[in-house]
Amino acid sequence: MRDVAVVGVGMTEFGEMWSQSLRTIWAEAALAALADAGVKKVDLITIGSMSPGLFVGQEHLASLLADELGMAGTAASRVESACASGGLALRTGFAEVASGLSDTVLVTGVEKMNDVDGADATYALGTAADQEWEGFHGITFPGLYAMLARAHMERYGTTVEQLAAVSVKNHANGLLNPHAQYRMKLTVESALQSTMVADPLRLMDCSPVTDGAAALVLTTVEHAKELSGDRPIVKITGSGLATDTITLANRDDLTELKAVRKAADRAYAMAGRKAEDLDVVEVHDCFTIAEIMATEAIGLFEPGKGAKAAEDGLTAIGGKIPVNTSGGLKSKGHPVGATGVAQVAEITTQLRGEAGERQVAGAKVGLAQNMGGSGG
Ligand code: COA
Repeated sequence: MRDVAVVGVGMTEFGEMWSQSLRTIWAEAALAALADAGVKKVDLITIGSMSPGLFVGQEHLASLLADELGMAGTAASRVESACASGGLALRTGFAEVASGLSDTVLVTGVEKMNDVDGADATYALGTAADQEWEGFHGITFPGLYAMLARAHMERYGTTVEQLAAVSVKNHANGLLNPHAQYRMKLTVESALQSTMVADPLRLMDCSPVTDGAAALVLTTVEHAKELSGDRPIVKITGSGLATDTITLANRDDLTELKAVRKAADRAYAMAGRKAEDLDVVEVHDCFTIAEIMATEAIGLFEPGKGAKAAEDGLTAIGGKIPVNTSGGLKSKGHPVGATGVAQVAEITTQLRGEAGERQVAGAKVGLAQNMGGSGG
C-alpha cells in the first residue's frame, strides 16, 4: 500500500442555509479544499450523502456534482452508510490512493436537511433504523439513543448531569469554531431545563438538523511533499470499518458500541498505535450518550468510565484527551452525510497546528470516529 496524506481541507458554515442549494454548498466546500491543496485536477470525486432523495428530491449526485465543479468526465461516486456516509467516502478515497488506483482524490460529504419540515427530516433520518422492526413501530433516533442512555445509566450509574456535561463542553468548543451552527455558552443547569425530547434525552442532548458540506483532498505522501511547502504533512496511518446489527433488539449488550470498538481496533492495528497515543479526537456525538459510549469503545476510557471522564473535564481542551474540539455534532451541527468528512477536516486542522483558539498544543496524532444510525 502507498502512504496517503490529506493535503486539502474545506467546509461551509454549518446551519440553516435557506438561500443555497445542495449543489452550491457542496461546490463551496469542494473548491475550498482544492484551493487549500493547490490542486486543480483529481482522478476521482467521492461523495458521502445519506438521503438527498428524501431531503431535497435529488439522487444521482456523482454526475450532478462533478458537472457542478466543471469536472464532467472525471470519475465520481456517491457512497451511503447513513450518518457514516462521510467516513465511508474518506475510506473509499483512502483505498483508491493507497492501492494506486487513483493518485489524487477529492473526498466530500454533503447534506441539505432543512428543505423539509421537522417531521419529514425525522422520517428521512429514521430510514437508517431497521424499518420493519423499529421504524414502522414508531421509534425515532432520539428514542433509540434514549434506550442506549437508559441501559448505560442502569448498568453504570451514568447521570443526566454527566450527559449535560458533554453538551456543555461541546458548546464551549463550538463557541471557538466559526463554522459551528449553535455557538452559545451553555451550563449544566440550563441543559437540564431544556425541552424533553425522548426521556432521558433533552434538546441539549441532541445534535441538530443541519445543512452543510465538507471536503478533503487526498494524495500520496510523495506528492504531498511537493504540495505542502512548510505545512506539516498529515498522513493517514490507519483506517477501520466495521458493522453491527442495526436492530437494538438483536444486540446482546446495549451499553457497548461493538462496531465502533471493532473499527477502532482495526485502525489502531493498521497504524501500529493505541488509544494512549492520541492527542486529539473527534467522535460521533449525535446524542450526548453517543459521545460517552464512543469514547469507551475507542478505548479512551474503560467501559462505564466515559461519563465521569467528561464530567471531570478530561475530554475538554486542556484536559487529558480533548474530544470534539470542533464543537462536535452537538454544537457544530450534523449534516449527516458531511459529518465524517468534517471530523477529519478538524483533525487535519489540529495536526497542522491551524486550529486557532481551539488548538490542542503539540497535537501530533488524531482519530476521527463516525458511525451510522444507532451504531450499525
Ligand atoms: N440543539 C440546540 N438547539 C436546538 C436544537 C439542538 N439540537 N434543535 C433545535 N434547536 C432550537 C432551534 O434553534 C429553535 O430555537 P428558537 O426557538 O430559539 O428559534 C428551537 O430549538 C426549536 O427548533 P425546532 O427546529 O422547532 O426543533 P424541533 O423540535 O423540530 O427539533 C430535535 C429538535 C431535537 C427533534 C431535532 O433537532 C432532531 O431531530 N435532532 C436529532 C437529529 C438526528 O436524529 N440526527 C441523526 C442522529 S443518528
